[in-house]
Formats: sequence, structure tokens, C-alpha cells
Amino acid sequence: MNRRSRWQKIKDFLTLPLRALCIFEGRRWGLSSIKSERIEYAAREVRGYCLDVGCGKHNVLINDFLDGNGIGIDVFAYEGLNQENIVTDMTHLPFPDNNFDSVTFIANLNHIPVNDRDAELAEAFRCLKPNGNIIVTMPSPFAGVLIHKFVHWYDHIFGTQYDVDTIRGMHHDEEFYVTDQEIRQRLKKAGFSKIIKKYFFTQWGLNHLIMGSKQ
Ligand SMILES: C[S@@+](CC[C@H](N)C(=O)[O-])C[C@H]1O[C@@H](n2cnc3c(N)ncnc32)[C@H](O)[C@@H]1O
Repeated sequence: MNRRSRWQKIKDFLTLPLRALCIFEGRRWGLSSIKSERIEYAAREVRGYCLDVGCGKHNVLINDFLDGNGIGIDVFAYEGLNQENIVTDMTHLPFPDNNFDSVTFIANLNHIPVNDRDAELAEAFRCLKPNGNIIVTMPSPFAGVLIHKFVHWYDHIFGTQYDVDTIRGMHHDEEFYVTDQEIRQRLKKAGFSKIIKKYFFTQWGLNHLIMGSKQ
């Protein structure tokens, strides 16, 4: 697993505003990107064979953090994905029951149309083995709105393509964030229990994850 040293975490903590303003993927100037950081926090909680829903470009969680131990799926054919990564209807996953040790939704529950969220979480529950866990990461409302708007305007001004939502074309029902209350309620409704929250220290607590278990 691609884990940061303690010194790296201290540098990342102290430089959060710089890292948030100078958008980059991977590593630059000896600093971690916001994206790789959130994926690392999620990866730490993975229990084994993993399904990453909404994996995004290059299937980073599975390829770079879990040594290929899992499957990343997305609705859009981003760079670095192939046919086996594409699932256009996430409310009917092409996997058997009790197949994965963990299912992750990293920075993407808000991008799932509101009316499909329960169905997608129910599918995650079905595909998980007993004692498997679900990991949902989500920025705070403040960070969620700010980052989405900032990345959008950054691409507009500098001609870059960091905004994966614009590349894909956002559905009108997507949002900038989902509240903790909504995540907890939907996880319970899907059947998950032992729901807990953990903050991302090196993102000043502006990002966090919520986890639940299939008992
Ligand atoms: C902000 S990106 C996050 C990508 C990656 N997980 C990461 O952390 O960098 C949101 C992802 O959700 C995906 N997505 C869009 N609609 C979805 C849906 N209905 N179900 C699951 N994922 C969806 C997008 O294609 C996109 O890859």
C-alpha cells in the first residue's frame, strides 16, 4: 500500500491551502495531492477484496493502493479504464452476492442521482460478504461547494481538465456534497450497522469518511 510517512503527513497538514489551490494529481514539490490523500484514507479501511464504485480516472484505489486486489467501476469511460471497468447501470451490479470484503464510494455519493442512491447502496450491501464494510468519503458542505466551483473555474482559466464532472457531463440531480445525516440514514436503510465517522487529519477535518458493516 502507498502509505505516507509521518513527516509527509506533517508537511501535507501544514500545506493544505497550497495543495488545495495548486490542483495536481499524484505528487508535486514533495507534497501529496488532495485526491491521493482521500484515496489513502479510504484504502486504510479496506478489509480485503474490494469493489470501488465510481473509481474515476486510472482506477487509482485498486491499482495504486491495493496492489490490484479488487475491481474499480465507473459509469464513464475515463482515461485509464477499460470495458470491464464500465457499468452504466449501477443499480444492478454485475457481481454475485457476498463477493467483496469492502465496497468504497470515494467522493462520489453526491454524484449519484438522488433517486438512485438507495438502490446503489442496496447493491453494495448485496455484493458484500458478511462482516464486510462500506466506506463512503465526503467533504464538509463548505469544502464540497468551494472545491467543485474552484476546480471548474481553474479548468476554465488554465485550459486544464481536472474537473472530471465536467468531462463526464453532470446529471441535473447531482450535488456538491451529501450531509452526514443523509449518509447515515441511507446506510441504515440499505442494512448497514455499526456506522462510524473518521476525519481526515491532513485535510484539516474538512473531509471525512463514514463506514458501516454488514453483520
Ligand atoms: C469526484 S469523482 C471521484 C472519483 C474517484 N473516486 C476519486 O476519488 O477521485 C465522482 C465519480 O462518480 C462517478 N459517478 C457518476 N455517476 C455515478 C453513479 N450513478 N454511480 C456511481 N458513480 C458515479 C463519476 O463518473 C466519477 O468518477
